Amino acid sequence: MKVTTICCIGAGYVGGPTMAVIAQKNPQIKVTVVDVNESRIEAWNHEDLDQLPIYEPGLDAVVAEARNRNLFFSTEVDAAIEAADMVFISVNTPTKTYGKGKGMAADLKYIELCARQIAKVSTSDKIIVEKSTLPVKTAQTIKSILHNTGNGINFQILSNPEFLAEGTAVQDLLMPDRVLIGGEQTKEGVEAIQALVDIYLSWVPNENIITTNLWSSELSKLTANAFLAQRVSSINALTELCEVTGADVNEVANAIGKDSRIGPKFLKASVGFGGSCFQKDILNLVYIAKSYGLKEVADYWEQVIIMNDYQKRRFSTKIVKTLYNTISGKKIAFLGWAFKKDTNDTRESAAIYVADQLIEEQATICVYDPKVTAQQMQNDLNYLNSRTEEDNQNQLITEDNPYNACKDAHAIAILTEWDEFKFYDWQKIYDIMQKPAFVFDGRGILNSETLKTIGFQYYAIGR
Ligand code: UDX
Ligand code: ADP
Repeated sequence: MKVTTICCIGAGYVGGPTMAVIAQKNPQIKVTVVDVNESRIEAWNHEDLDQLPIYEPGLDAVVAEARNRNLFFSTEVDAAIEAADMVFISVNTPTKTYGKGKGMAADLKYIELCARQIAKVSTSDKIIVEKSTLPVKTAQTIKSILHNTGNGINFQILSNPEFLAEGTAVQDLLMPDRVLIGGEQTKEGVEAIQALVDIYLSWVPNENIITTNLWSSELSKLTANAFLAQRVSSINALTELCEVTGADVNEVANAIGKDSRIGPKFLKASVGFGGSCFQKDILNLVYIAKSYGLKEVADYWEQVIIMNDYQKRRFSTKIVKTLYNTISGKKIAFLGWAFKKDTNDTRESAAIYVADQLIEEQATICVYDPKVTAQQMQNDLNYLNSRTEEDNQNQLITEDNPYNACKDAHAIAILTEWDEFKFYDWQKIYDIMQKPAFVFDGRGILNSETLKTIGFQYYAIGR
């Protein structure tokens, strides 16, 4: 079967860039990305490519090439589903905030709504592709909803998890380490898998496309993220030991990373991992393990999260202690709010938790981030429900110039590894700060020698 029309439900960090690249590489396929969020769709259709709703290096060029040629963004969800041979589900699956599995299980309400919507409007056979990260066996849920509609339409369900990392999404999509496609091992299932393989073959070498059964594919996505997060928690677990012994975590990371069995990537010590996937996926894994009664397995993976929470708290405690055990009324400048560089995404960013803990100690936080809006920062903080929105507004202020953010501050905390921070005039920053002037480098990106020569009291995690 040849796919000619694709619909993707959900125009977010995953759906948007993924469909843009699929459309760019398959000009013969019409790709429509739909979302219920009107302002998001408007932004995707904005003439000025700087106004796209998500920031990713290189994305503007891909969108510019394909948009209104064979790539369309629309709020007409039903029409796009009906017209499509293949429907990608790329909606958000946040951690449940209520009921059974609260704080752990994935909230599948958006997925179920999508499945019901597909069932309702479909008049022809379709291949349904799970793109969002889903707990194992979600395909079963989707299948059961689709197959019980009673209108005799055939649906094949595939799992095609996205491995792109934000900030490098376009590169990751153009040159993926692998594409993973899971499907049923029946004649129809194998045909559906092949239809999706053909789409990727437009630019991905055949040997990088892996096909598996549905459950292996779903579980691989969860565990890939759990393994990556575990590496960050493992190196972070060494930072405190380095600090007390006089070892330097960068030197340790370099030394162990040279062992080809360990490898050099993902060993950057930090104030803690963030992002929409790691915490959610591990909590999910823990929840699944628990629900099968596998207590030891659940505890093992949960420790990755416990370590991460500890690392964020350790960072804020270090700031308080160093500033003579009181930060009440002091101004602390934050450089960075996004969960990593080159994205405007702030989900689960360490900055949110560190800010919250410092505000508890009555500090005033003044944030500069090159891509995150002031409103987003307030929303993130309000979401924690620690105090009234008015209090948050008074305690968390924002600046769109880094030097203004640092003026009169007692300390600077680096929360995101944006490259531009390295190139600031640090002498100028020192001159406009309160003395003694402190820098807490939660990403270990600044040159400690230069800063110390200027006169800063410099602290980098793990050194
Ligand atoms: C992750 C996975 O990498 C990707 O494959 C998956 O599909 C989605 O989840 P993402 O969350 O976009 O991608 O970013 P990633 O680069 O994995 O970073 C996650 C967090 O870990 C960030 O906060 C990052 O700063 C932190 N991190 C990463 C470290 O602290 N140290 C490292 O060495 C690497
Ligand atoms: P991700 O990082 O997984 O892409 P996002 O939150 O960035 O997550 O994007 C998910 C998008 O899916 C949101 O823009 C949301 O409005 C959209 N969405 C959720 N449910 C539906 C639905 N039933 N129909 C259409 N769009 C939906």
